[in-house]
Amino acid sequence: MTDQPSIVRVRDILAAEEPGSCVQVQGWVRTRRTSKAGLTFVEVNDGSSLANLQVVAEQALPNYEAISKLGTGASVEVRGEIVSSPAAGQAMELRAADIRVVGDSPDDYPLQKKRHSFEYLRTIAHLRARTNTFGAVARVRNEVSRCIHEYFQTRGYLYVHSPIITAIDAEGAGEMFQVTALDLENPPRRDGHVDYGRDLFEDRAYLAVSGQLEAEIMATAVGGVYTFAPTFRAENSNTFRHLSEFWMIEPEIAWCDLDRLQDIAEDFIKCIFASVLDRCPEDMRFFNDRIDSTAIETLESIVGSRFVRISYTEAVEILEKAVEANFQFPVSWGMDLQSEHERYLTEQTFRKPVIVTNYPRENKAFYMRVNDDGKTVAAMDVLVPRIGEIIGGSQREERYDRLREQMAARGMDPEAYWWYLDLRRYGTVPHAGFGLGLERTVQFITGMANIRDVIPFPRAPGLLSF
Ligand code: 4AD
Ligand code: MG
Repeated sequence: MTDQPSIVRVRDILAAEEPGSCVQVQGWVRTRRTSKAGLTFVEVNDGSSLANLQVVAEQALPNYEAISKLGTGASVEVRGEIVSSPAAGQAMELRAADIRVVGDSPDDYPLQKKRHSFEYLRTIAHLRARTNTFGAVARVRNEVSRCIHEYFQTRGYLYVHSPIITAIDAEGAGEMFQVTALDLENPPRRDGHVDYGRDLFEDRAYLAVSGQLEAEIMATAVGGVYTFAPTFRAENSNTFRHLSEFWMIEPEIAWCDLDRLQDIAEDFIKCIFASVLDRCPEDMRFFNDRIDSTAIETLESIVGSRFVRISYTEAVEILEKAVEANFQFPVSWGMDLQSEHERYLTEQTFRKPVIVTNYPRENKAFYMRVNDDGKTVAAMDVLVPRIGEIIGGSQREERYDRLREQMAARGMDPEAYWWYLDLRRYGTVPHAGFGLGLERTVQFITGMANIRDVIPFPRAPGLLSF
Protein backbone atom coordinates (compact mmCIF):
# COMPACT_ATOMS: atom_id res chain seq x y z
CA MET A 1 0.00 0.00 0.00
CA THR A 2 1.33 3.45 -0.88
CA ASP A 3 1.60 6.04 1.83
CA GLN A 4 -0.95 8.86 1.48
CA PRO A 5 0.87 12.20 1.65
CA SER A 6 -0.22 14.30 4.59
CA ILE A 7 -2.86 16.99 4.13
CA VAL A 8 -1.22 20.41 4.17
CA ARG A 9 -2.83 23.87 4.22
CA VAL A 10 -2.20 26.17 1.29
CA ARG A 11 -0.70 28.76 3.60
CA ASP A 12 2.03 26.32 4.66
CA ILE A 13 2.81 25.26 1.10
CA LEU A 14 3.22 28.86 -0.02
CA ALA A 15 5.57 29.44 2.88
CA ALA A 16 7.57 26.25 2.21
CA GLU A 17 11.30 26.90 2.02
CA GLU A 18 12.19 23.87 -0.05
CA PRO A 19 10.48 22.24 -3.02
CA GLY A 20 10.29 18.47 -3.25
CA SER A 21 7.74 17.25 -0.70
CA CYS A 22 4.65 15.35 -1.76
CA VAL A 23 1.49 16.70 -0.16
CA GLN A 24 -2.24 16.60 -0.37
CA VAL A 25 -4.39 19.76 -0.51
CA GLN A 26 -8.16 20.15 -0.11
CA GLY A 27 -9.86 23.32 -1.30
CA TRP A 28 -12.07 25.20 -3.72
CA VAL A 29 -11.30 26.35 -7.23
CA ARG A 30 -10.98 30.12 -7.57
CA THR A 31 -10.05 30.13 -11.27
CA ARG A 32 -9.04 27.64 -13.93
CA ARG A 33 -7.10 28.31 -17.11
CA THR A 34 -6.47 25.68 -19.76
CA SER A 35 -3.73 26.23 -22.33
CA LYS A 36 -3.59 24.87 -25.86
CA ALA A 37 -0.32 23.21 -24.98
CA GLY A 38 -2.22 20.72 -22.85
CA LEU A 39 -1.74 22.20 -19.40
CA THR A 40 -4.41 23.31 -16.95
CA PHE A 41 -3.69 25.78 -14.16
CA VAL A 42 -6.07 25.64 -11.23
CA GLU A 43 -5.98 28.27 -8.49
CA VAL A 44 -7.03 26.55 -5.28
CA ASN A 45 -7.96 28.31 -2.06
CA ASP A 46 -8.62 26.54 1.24
CA GLY A 47 -9.27 29.57 3.44
CA SER A 48 -5.94 29.35 5.25
CA SER A 49 -4.57 32.35 3.39
CA LEU A 50 -5.56 35.09 1.04
CA ALA A 51 -3.24 33.79 -1.67
CA ASN A 52 -4.25 30.80 -3.78
CA LEU A 53 -2.12 27.80 -4.57
CA GLN A 54 -1.42 27.30 -8.24
CA VAL A 55 -1.95 23.66 -9.19
CA VAL A 56 -0.53 22.55 -12.53
CA ALA A 57 -2.24 19.60 -14.22
CA GLU A 58 -0.80 17.83 -17.24
CA GLN A 59 -2.70 16.15 -20.05
CA ALA A 60 -1.41 12.75 -18.96
CA LEU A 61 -3.72 12.74 -15.93
CA PRO A 62 -6.47 10.14 -16.50
CA ASN A 63 -9.31 12.60 -15.73
CA TYR A 64 -7.69 15.54 -17.56
CA GLU A 65 -10.87 16.10 -19.56
CA ALA A 66 -12.83 16.84 -16.36
CA ILE A 67 -10.00 18.91 -14.88
CA SER A 68 -9.81 21.08 -17.99
CA LYS A 69 -13.47 21.96 -17.49
CA LEU A 70 -13.40 22.59 -13.71
CA GLY A 71 -15.76 25.39 -12.78
CA THR A 72 -15.11 28.18 -10.28
CA GLY A 73 -16.30 27.05 -6.86
CA ALA A 74 -15.70 23.32 -7.40
CA SER A 75 -14.11 21.39 -4.54
CA VAL A 76 -11.00 19.37 -5.23
CA GLU A 77 -8.52 17.14 -3.50
CA VAL A 78 -5.08 17.36 -5.04
CA ARG A 79 -2.04 15.19 -4.47
CA GLY A 80 1.24 16.32 -5.89
CA GLU A 81 4.74 17.61 -5.47
CA ILE A 82 5.70 21.09 -4.31
CA VAL A 83 7.88 22.65 -6.99
CA SER A 84 9.44 26.08 -7.40
CA SER A 85 7.13 28.19 -9.49
CA PRO A 86 8.43 29.68 -12.72
CA ALA A 87 5.55 32.16 -12.66
CA ALA A 88 5.85 35.57 -11.05
CA GLY A 89 4.03 36.31 -7.80
CA GLN A 90 4.51 33.00 -5.99
CA ALA A 91 7.49 30.98 -4.90
CA MET A 92 5.89 27.54 -4.89
CA GLU A 93 3.24 25.70 -6.86
CA LEU A 94 1.93 22.17 -6.88
CA ARG A 95 2.56 19.74 -9.73
CA ALA A 96 -0.49 17.51 -9.61
CA ALA A 97 -0.11 13.74 -9.59
CA ASP A 98 -3.80 13.28 -8.97
CA ILE A 99 -6.81 15.62 -8.81
CA ARG A 100 -10.06 14.30 -7.45
CA VAL A 101 -13.08 16.45 -8.28
CA VAL A 102 -15.13 16.12 -5.10
CA GLY A 103 -17.96 18.49 -5.94
CA ASP A 104 -18.39 20.16 -9.30
CA SER A 105 -19.73 23.71 -9.56
CA PRO A 106 -21.84 24.64 -12.58
CA ASP A 107 -21.75 27.91 -14.52
CA ASP A 108 -24.42 29.60 -12.44
CA TYR A 109 -22.05 29.79 -9.42
CA PRO A 110 -22.71 33.34 -8.20
CA LEU A 111 -19.09 34.23 -7.45
CA GLN A 112 -17.66 34.49 -10.92
CA LYS A 113 -14.58 36.62 -11.46
CA LYS A 114 -16.14 40.05 -11.53
CA ARG A 115 -16.24 42.16 -8.39
CA HIS A 116 -19.52 42.20 -6.52
CA SER A 117 -20.88 44.92 -4.27
CA PHE A 118 -20.95 44.26 -0.54
CA GLU A 119 -24.73 44.81 -0.64
CA TYR A 120 -25.12 41.99 -3.13
CA LEU A 121 -22.74 39.73 -1.23
CA ARG A 122 -24.91 40.12 1.89
CA THR A 123 -27.71 38.41 -0.02
CA ILE A 124 -25.45 35.41 -0.60
CA ALA A 125 -23.86 35.22 2.82
CA HIS A 126 -23.66 31.44 2.47
CA LEU A 127 -21.04 31.94 -0.28
CA ARG A 128 -19.43 35.28 0.47
CA ALA A 129 -16.98 33.70 2.93
CA ARG A 130 -15.28 32.29 -0.17
CA THR A 131 -14.34 35.75 -1.44
CA ASN A 132 -11.01 37.40 -0.69
CA THR A 133 -12.57 40.11 1.46
CA PHE A 134 -14.70 37.86 3.63
CA GLY A 135 -11.95 35.27 4.02
CA ALA A 136 -9.67 38.06 5.25
CA VAL A 137 -12.37 39.40 7.58
CA ALA A 138 -12.90 35.92 9.02
CA ARG A 139 -9.19 35.50 9.72
CA VAL A 140 -8.82 38.95 11.31
CA ARG A 141 -11.95 38.41 13.42
CA ASN A 142 -10.51 35.09 14.55
CA GLU A 143 -7.20 36.73 15.48
CA VAL A 144 -8.95 39.47 17.44
CA SER A 145 -10.92 36.82 19.36
CA ARG A 146 -7.86 34.69 20.02
CA CYS A 147 -5.89 37.67 21.21
CA ILE A 148 -8.67 38.82 23.55
CA HIS A 149 -8.65 35.47 25.32
CA GLU A 150 -4.86 35.49 25.48
CA TYR A 151 -4.83 39.03 26.88
CA PHE A 152 -7.04 38.15 29.83
CA GLN A 153 -5.84 34.60 30.32
CA THR A 154 -2.22 35.70 30.69
CA ARG A 155 -3.24 38.33 33.24
CA GLY A 156 -5.18 36.10 35.61
CA TYR A 157 -8.76 36.95 34.61
CA LEU A 158 -11.36 34.18 34.62
CA TYR A 159 -13.50 33.71 31.54
CA VAL A 160 -17.08 33.58 32.86
CA HIS A 161 -20.38 32.89 31.14
CA SER A 162 -23.27 35.20 31.76
CA PRO A 163 -26.81 34.11 30.90
CA ILE A 164 -28.33 34.97 27.54
CA ILE A 165 -31.91 34.81 28.82
CA THR A 166 -32.60 37.26 31.61
CA ALA A 167 -35.36 38.99 33.52
CA ILE A 168 -33.69 42.41 33.80
CA ASP A 169 -32.57 45.29 31.65
CA ALA A 170 -28.89 45.71 32.58
CA GLU A 171 -28.53 48.99 30.70
CA GLY A 172 -31.94 50.41 31.57
CA ALA A 173 -32.39 51.58 27.98
CA GLY A 174 -35.48 49.47 27.29
CA GLU A 175 -34.05 47.98 24.08
CA MET A 176 -34.71 44.35 24.83
CA PHE A 177 -36.04 41.50 22.73
CA GLN A 178 -38.66 39.58 24.60
CA VAL A 179 -38.41 35.79 24.90
CA THR A 180 -41.51 33.70 25.40
CA ALA A 181 -42.82 30.18 25.04
CA LEU A 182 -46.40 31.43 25.05
CA ASP A 183 -48.56 31.25 21.96
CA LEU A 184 -48.50 34.89 20.82
CA GLU A 185 -51.75 34.39 18.91
CA ASN A 186 -53.52 33.33 22.04
CA PRO A 187 -51.65 34.09 25.26
CA PRO A 188 -53.16 33.43 28.68
CA ARG A 189 -54.55 36.63 30.18
CA ARG A 190 -55.19 37.96 33.62
CA ASP A 191 -56.80 41.28 34.49
CA GLY A 192 -56.61 42.33 30.86
CA HIS A 193 -52.86 41.69 30.54
CA VAL A 194 -50.77 38.78 29.30
CA ASP A 195 -50.20 36.42 32.23
CA TYR A 196 -46.44 35.83 32.16
CA GLY A 197 -46.81 33.83 35.37
CA ARG A 198 -47.95 31.06 33.05
CA ASP A 199 -44.97 31.42 30.71
CA LEU A 200 -42.07 28.95 30.88
CA PHE A 201 -40.00 31.03 33.34
CA GLU A 202 -43.12 32.14 35.22
CA ASP A 203 -41.93 35.67 34.54
CA ARG A 204 -41.34 38.02 31.66
CA ALA A 205 -38.03 37.12 29.97
CA TYR A 206 -35.65 38.89 27.57
CA LEU A 207 -32.43 38.43 25.62
CA ALA A 208 -29.52 40.00 27.49
CA VAL A 209 -28.27 43.41 26.36
CA SER A 210 -25.16 42.90 28.47
CA GLY A 211 -23.60 40.35 30.81
CA GLN A 212 -22.19 43.02 33.08
CA LEU A 213 -24.31 42.63 36.18
CA GLU A 214 -23.55 38.92 36.40
CA ALA A 215 -19.88 39.65 35.66
CA GLU A 216 -19.95 41.95 38.71
CA ILE A 217 -21.18 39.05 40.82
CA MET A 218 -18.26 36.95 39.68
CA ALA A 219 -15.68 39.76 39.98
CA THR A 220 -16.68 40.44 43.57
CA ALA A 221 -15.92 36.80 44.29
CA VAL A 222 -12.79 36.05 42.28
CA GLY A 223 -11.26 39.43 41.42
CA GLY A 224 -10.96 39.83 37.66
CA VAL A 225 -13.28 38.23 35.12
CA TYR A 226 -14.37 38.73 31.52
CA THR A 227 -17.29 37.64 29.41
CA PHE A 228 -17.18 37.15 25.65
CA ALA A 229 -20.71 36.63 24.45
CA PRO A 230 -23.43 37.65 22.04
CA THR A 231 -25.69 40.47 23.20
CA PHE A 232 -28.97 41.66 21.74
CA ARG A 233 -30.48 45.08 21.25
CA ALA A 234 -33.93 45.71 19.83
CA GLU A 235 -33.10 49.33 19.06
CA ASN A 236 -34.31 50.15 15.53
CA SER A 237 -30.98 51.62 14.40
CA ASN A 238 -30.27 51.24 10.71
CA THR A 239 -26.70 52.52 10.65
CA PHE A 240 -23.27 51.41 9.50
CA ARG A 241 -22.26 50.73 13.12
CA HIS A 242 -25.28 49.06 14.74
CA LEU A 243 -26.31 45.40 14.84
CA SER A 244 -29.21 43.78 16.64
CA GLU A 245 -26.98 40.88 17.64
CA PHE A 246 -23.35 41.65 18.36
CA TRP A 247 -20.53 40.22 20.43
CA MET A 248 -19.27 42.03 23.46
CA ILE A 249 -16.25 41.47 25.68
CA GLU A 250 -16.91 42.68 29.20
CA PRO A 251 -14.04 42.61 31.70
CA GLU A 252 -15.00 43.38 35.28
CA ILE A 253 -12.32 44.10 37.84
CA ALA A 254 -12.61 44.25 41.62
CA TRP A 255 -10.57 46.85 43.53
CA CYS A 256 -10.35 48.95 40.39
CA ASP A 257 -11.09 52.65 39.85
CA LEU A 258 -11.71 54.70 36.71
CA ASP A 259 -8.04 55.71 36.26
CA ARG A 260 -6.83 52.14 36.23
CA LEU A 261 -9.74 51.13 34.03
CA GLN A 262 -8.61 53.62 31.38
CA ASP A 263 -5.08 52.22 31.51
CA ILE A 264 -6.42 48.70 31.02
CA ALA A 265 -8.71 49.68 28.14
CA GLU A 266 -5.91 51.48 26.31
CA ASP A 267 -3.42 48.68 26.81
CA PHE A 268 -6.01 46.09 25.76
CA ILE A 269 -6.90 47.82 22.48
CA LYS A 270 -3.24 48.38 21.58
CA CYS A 271 -2.51 44.73 22.26
CA ILE A 272 -5.28 43.64 19.89
CA PHE A 273 -4.11 45.97 17.12
CA ALA A 274 -0.47 44.94 17.53
CA SER A 275 -1.42 41.31 17.43
CA VAL A 276 -3.39 41.65 14.19
CA LEU A 277 -0.51 43.56 12.57
CA ASP A 278 1.87 40.86 13.69
CA ARG A 279 -0.16 37.76 12.87
CA CYS A 280 -2.30 38.80 9.87
CA PRO A 281 0.17 40.77 7.71
CA GLU A 282 -1.14 39.38 4.41
CA ASP A 283 -4.78 40.18 5.23
CA MET A 284 -3.88 43.64 6.52
CA ARG A 285 -1.99 44.38 3.29
CA PHE A 286 -5.13 43.37 1.43
CA PHE A 287 -7.33 45.74 3.48
CA ASN A 288 -4.76 48.46 3.00
CA ASP A 289 -4.70 47.96 -0.79
CA ARG A 290 -8.39 47.37 -1.39
CA ILE A 291 -10.50 48.85 1.42
CA ASP A 292 -8.74 51.67 3.27
CA SER A 293 -5.32 52.90 2.21
CA THR A 294 -4.56 54.14 5.73
CA ALA A 295 -5.48 50.89 7.53
CA ILE A 296 -1.98 49.73 8.48
CA GLU A 297 -0.59 53.17 9.19
CA THR A 298 -3.57 53.94 11.44
CA LEU A 299 -3.08 50.82 13.55
CA GLU A 300 0.68 51.33 13.79
CA SER A 301 0.34 54.90 14.91
CA ILE A 302 -2.26 54.00 17.53
CA VAL A 303 -0.10 51.21 18.92
CA GLY A 304 2.81 53.63 19.22
CA SER A 305 1.12 56.63 20.84
CA ARG A 306 -0.96 57.50 23.87
CA PHE A 307 -4.72 57.94 23.76
CA VAL A 308 -6.06 61.39 24.60
CA ARG A 309 -7.96 61.54 27.90
CA ILE A 310 -10.47 64.31 28.49
CA SER A 311 -13.54 64.81 30.62
CA TYR A 312 -17.00 65.15 29.15
CA THR A 313 -16.97 68.78 30.27
CA GLU A 314 -13.74 69.43 28.36
CA ALA A 315 -15.17 67.65 25.32
CA VAL A 316 -18.23 69.89 25.38
CA GLU A 317 -16.02 72.98 25.61
CA ILE A 318 -14.11 71.88 22.52
CA LEU A 319 -17.29 71.08 20.61
CA GLU A 320 -18.99 74.35 21.55
CA LYS A 321 -16.09 76.23 19.99
CA ALA A 322 -16.27 74.18 16.78
CA VAL A 323 -18.63 76.52 14.93
CA GLU A 324 -17.24 75.50 11.54
CA ALA A 325 -18.41 71.92 12.12
CA ASN A 326 -22.09 72.87 11.77
CA PHE A 327 -23.34 70.02 13.90
CA GLN A 328 -26.81 68.67 13.26
CA PHE A 329 -27.24 68.37 17.05
CA PRO A 330 -26.15 71.61 18.76
CA VAL A 331 -23.87 71.05 21.72
CA SER A 332 -24.58 71.99 25.31
CA TRP A 333 -23.53 70.57 28.66
CA GLY A 334 -25.83 67.72 29.66
CA MET A 335 -26.57 66.40 26.20
CA ASP A 336 -25.64 62.94 24.89
CA LEU A 337 -22.64 63.10 22.58
CA GLN A 338 -23.81 62.09 19.12
CA SER A 339 -21.83 60.21 16.53
CA GLU A 340 -20.93 63.48 14.74
CA HIS A 341 -19.44 64.85 17.97
CA GLU A 342 -17.45 61.71 18.66
CA ARG A 343 -16.09 61.83 15.14
CA TYR A 344 -15.17 65.49 15.40
CA LEU A 345 -13.09 64.84 18.51
CA THR A 346 -11.28 61.83 17.06
CA GLU A 347 -10.95 62.95 13.44
CA GLN A 348 -10.60 66.73 13.62
CA THR A 349 -9.40 67.74 17.07
CA PHE A 350 -7.06 64.94 18.08
CA ARG A 351 -6.75 62.55 15.12
CA LYS A 352 -6.44 59.56 17.41
CA PRO A 353 -8.42 57.59 20.00
CA VAL A 354 -9.92 59.68 22.78
CA ILE A 355 -11.15 58.50 26.17
CA VAL A 356 -13.95 60.72 27.44
CA THR A 357 -14.76 60.45 31.14
CA ASN A 358 -17.19 61.74 33.76
CA TYR A 359 -20.42 62.10 31.85
CA PRO A 360 -23.57 63.75 33.26
CA ARG A 361 -25.33 61.21 35.44
CA GLU A 362 -28.78 61.63 33.86
CA ASN A 363 -27.81 60.13 30.51
CA LYS A 364 -25.89 57.20 31.85
CA ALA A 365 -26.83 53.83 33.31
CA PHE A 366 -27.92 53.42 36.92
CA TYR A 367 -24.90 51.34 37.96
CA MET A 368 -22.28 54.05 37.33
CA ARG A 369 -20.55 55.55 40.33
CA VAL A 370 -21.67 59.07 41.22
CA ASN A 371 -18.79 61.55 41.44
CA ASP A 372 -18.31 63.96 44.36
CA ASP A 373 -19.79 66.82 42.29
CA GLY A 374 -23.12 64.96 42.39
CA LYS A 375 -23.68 65.84 38.71
CA THR A 376 -21.44 63.40 36.88
CA VAL A 377 -20.64 59.71 37.02
CA ALA A 378 -17.31 57.86 36.74
CA ALA A 379 -18.02 56.70 33.19
CA MET A 380 -15.70 56.36 30.25
CA ASP A 381 -16.17 55.92 26.53
CA VAL A 382 -13.28 55.08 24.25
CA LEU A 383 -13.82 56.80 20.91
CA VAL A 384 -11.96 56.07 17.69
CA PRO A 385 -11.97 57.82 14.31
CA ARG A 386 -14.75 56.88 11.88
CA ILE A 387 -16.58 54.47 14.23
CA GLY A 388 -16.92 56.65 17.32
CA GLU A 389 -17.59 54.67 20.51
CA ILE A 390 -15.83 51.33 20.59
CA ILE A 391 -15.80 50.85 24.39
CA GLY A 392 -18.27 51.94 27.05
CA GLY A 393 -17.46 51.42 30.71
CA SER A 394 -17.40 52.82 34.20
CA GLN A 395 -16.49 52.48 37.80
CA ARG A 396 -19.52 50.91 39.48
CA GLU A 397 -21.54 52.41 42.28
CA GLU A 398 -20.41 50.27 45.20
CA ARG A 399 -22.25 52.30 47.93
CA TYR A 400 -25.58 50.77 48.79
CA ASP A 401 -27.43 54.02 49.52
CA ARG A 402 -26.12 55.81 46.44
CA LEU A 403 -27.11 52.89 44.26
CA ARG A 404 -30.63 52.91 45.72
CA GLU A 405 -30.83 56.62 44.91
CA GLN A 406 -29.64 56.05 41.35
CA MET A 407 -32.31 53.39 40.87
CA ALA A 408 -35.05 55.45 42.46
CA ALA A 409 -34.21 58.43 40.22
CA ARG A 410 -34.88 56.17 37.23
CA GLY A 411 -38.06 54.65 38.58
CA MET A 412 -36.48 51.19 38.82
CA ASP A 413 -37.92 48.50 41.04
CA PRO A 414 -35.24 47.62 43.65
CA GLU A 415 -36.95 44.26 44.23
CA ALA A 416 -36.04 43.15 40.73
CA TYR A 417 -32.37 43.92 41.46
CA TRP A 418 -32.24 42.56 45.02
CA TRP A 419 -29.20 40.39 44.33
CA TYR A 420 -27.34 43.29 42.69
CA LEU A 421 -28.03 45.41 45.75
CA ASP A 422 -26.89 42.55 48.01
CA LEU A 423 -23.39 42.79 46.52
CA ARG A 424 -23.27 46.27 48.12
CA ARG A 425 -24.46 44.97 51.47
CA TYR A 426 -22.05 42.08 51.86
CA GLY A 427 -18.39 42.92 51.43
CA THR A 428 -18.73 45.64 48.84
CA VAL A 429 -15.57 46.79 47.03
CA PRO A 430 -14.74 49.47 44.49
CA HIS A 431 -14.88 47.85 41.09
CA ALA A 432 -15.02 48.80 37.45
CA GLY A 433 -15.40 47.33 34.00
CA PHE A 434 -16.11 48.00 30.37
CA GLY A 435 -17.61 46.50 27.25
CA LEU A 436 -15.74 46.31 23.93
CA GLY A 437 -17.84 45.75 20.83
CA LEU A 438 -16.18 42.98 18.81
CA GLU A 439 -17.67 44.01 15.47
CA ARG A 440 -16.79 47.68 15.86
CA THR A 441 -13.25 46.57 16.65
CA VAL A 442 -13.00 44.42 13.52
CA GLN A 443 -14.64 47.20 11.51
CA PHE A 444 -12.07 49.69 12.70
CA ILE A 445 -9.10 47.39 12.08
CA THR A 446 -10.12 46.34 8.57
CA GLY A 447 -11.53 49.67 7.41
CA MET A 448 -14.71 47.92 6.30
CA ALA A 449 -17.42 50.54 5.87
CA ASN A 450 -20.42 48.61 7.17
CA ILE A 451 -20.61 46.60 10.39
CA ARG A 452 -22.79 44.05 8.57
CA ASP A 453 -19.72 42.96 6.66
CA VAL A 454 -17.55 42.01 9.62
CA ILE A 455 -19.85 39.35 11.09
CA PRO A 456 -20.63 36.28 8.98
CA PHE A 457 -24.40 36.39 9.43
CA PRO A 458 -25.51 39.88 10.44
CA ARG A 459 -28.70 40.51 12.37
CA ALA A 460 -30.09 44.00 11.89
CA PRO A 461 -33.52 45.51 11.23
CA GLY A 462 -35.01 43.53 8.32
CA LEU A 463 -32.03 41.18 8.14
CA LEU A 464 -32.54 37.62 9.34
CA SER A 465 -31.52 35.27 6.51
CA PHE A 466 -28.97 32.51 7.05
O1 4AD B 1 -21.83 51.19 25.87
P1 4AD B 1 -22.53 49.87 25.98
O2 4AD B 1 -23.99 49.85 25.82
O3 4AD B 1 -22.08 49.30 27.38
C1 4AD B 1 -22.55 48.22 28.01
O4 4AD B 1 -23.31 47.40 27.54
C2 4AD B 1 -21.91 48.00 29.37
N1 4AD B 1 -22.70 46.98 30.10
C3 4AD B 1 -20.48 47.60 29.23
C4 4AD B 1 -19.80 47.40 30.53
O5 4AD B 1 -19.50 48.37 31.22
N2 4AD B 1 -19.55 46.17 30.93
O6 4AD B 1 -21.91 48.89 24.91
C5 4AD B 1 -20.53 48.57 24.91
C6 4AD B 1 -19.98 48.52 23.50
C7 4AD B 1 -20.08 49.83 22.73
O7 4AD B 1 -19.03 50.70 23.06
C8 4AD B 1 -20.00 49.34 21.30
O8 4AD B 1 -18.66 49.06 20.92
C9 4AD B 1 -20.75 48.04 21.37
O9 4AD B 1 -20.73 47.60 22.70
N3 4AD B 1 -22.14 48.20 20.93
C10 4AD B 1 -22.62 47.81 19.73
N4 4AD B 1 -22.03 47.22 18.68
C11 4AD B 1 -22.78 46.94 17.60
N5 4AD B 1 -24.10 47.20 17.51
C12 4AD B 1 -24.75 47.79 18.55
N6 4AD B 1 -26.08 48.01 18.47
C13 4AD B 1 -24.00 48.12 19.72
N7 4AD B 1 -24.32 48.69 20.91
C14 4AD B 1 -23.18 48.72 21.61
MG1 MG C 1 -22.21 53.16 25.43
